[in-house]
Amino acid sequence: MTTASEPRSPAPIPPEVAADLARLPRERLPALLRRMPKAELHIHIEGSLEPELIFDLARRNGVALPYPSVEALRAAYAFTDLQSFLDIYYAGASVLLQEQDFFDMAWAYFEKAAADNVVRAEVFFDPQTHTERGVPFETVIRGLHHACQRAHAELGISAQLILCFLRHLSEEDAFDTLEQALPWRKYFIGVGLDSSEVGYPPEKFARVFARCRELGLQVVAHAGEEGPPAYISSALDVLQVQRIDHGVRCLEDAALVQRLAASRMPLTVCPLSNVKLKVFERMADHNLPALLAAGLCATVHSDDPAYFGGYLNQNFIDTFAALPQLGATEAYTLARNSFEASFADERSKAVWTAELDAVLHTLAPSRAPGPNPTQDRVTP
Ligand code: ADE
Ligand code: ZN
Repeated sequence: MTTASEPRSPAPIPPEVAADLARLPRERLPALLRRMPKAELHIHIEGSLEPELIFDLARRNGVALPYPSVEALRAAYAFTDLQSFLDIYYAGASVLLQEQDFFDMAWAYFEKAAADNVVRAEVFFDPQTHTERGVPFETVIRGLHHACQRAHAELGISAQLILCFLRHLSEEDAFDTLEQALPWRKYFIGVGLDSSEVGYPPEKFARVFARCRELGLQVVAHAGEEGPPAYISSALDVLQVQRIDHGVRCLEDAALVQRLAASRMPLTVCPLSNVKLKVFERMADHNLPALLAAGLCATVHSDDPAYFGGYLNQNFIDTFAALPQLGATEAYTLARNSFEASFADERSKAVWTAELDAVLHTLAPSRAPGPNPTQDRVTP
């Protein structure tokens, strides 16, 4: 059995894969990024609610919106920081009332994920955003679970749910939510921690996370998005998380970087989100190349794609376009890291890795023909 503190190394890139990577011309990089199978490990399903669907659901449920049109709502998506986004994100979720609404939202997401060659999705949901408004937990989880099942049956996506506690609410509220969730234990694989970060350190949720670990749930937490590296350390030490969501501020602490790299602790990085929420001013300033160069198990994800300008492939395309240091090897590494970091079984991971290798091989120009033994033979 391995523990988080035990040193671990990444699986080496096989020589034939390395040869394909070396031969892939730069102009085929966008095709590789689009066509690679990948795992989406950091998507808030409420953040996939597009303005058009917000308006449709508002109409269907008789909810009044403070915006006259889809265009006016979209125009309000000019964020200055995480909180300015969260205010509008929670307001958008107010149109979700019936089980069918949760299904429709998640199904719309899975159709987009399939187009991006997502083969595995570990989807966050924020039950407190809904139970606080009087929507029963059961309504939320039934709708989302049904969409996950259909995504697997019709789109071939292996989809699982992760319940997130809102860190601006109390630990008591989180315990209460866990209580409501336990009858639906089979419908979610883990818990996470999201919402406003600064001023709400992981320690606040030590006991509820301990209980979740006892229950055999996977545990992850947002840390080091806007918050300091110390929040990443306490997510590891106190919450004993298996992945850090975001974590980009770890580079401010060299000892922490060493620890994260040695334990292969995944960091689920969301580049478009980081630019929209001003964690980095421009994509060209993003530290993803430095995270990878430091040997960290970084992955790329979409966070709240309806609000941040794109789904998973758009994150890859925009990031690689702005950062010329990133090439085919980094693309391949990010896809491999996404499988390694996922909570899927090892057999599925091996299948997706083989599919990834096959996509790369199709895109790489064939090797120059070697010497032909019959032609080379000297005949008497
Ligand atoms: N909830 C939805 N998106 C989030 C983010 N980027 N950070 C924290 N909480 C969130
Ligand atoms: Zn997030």
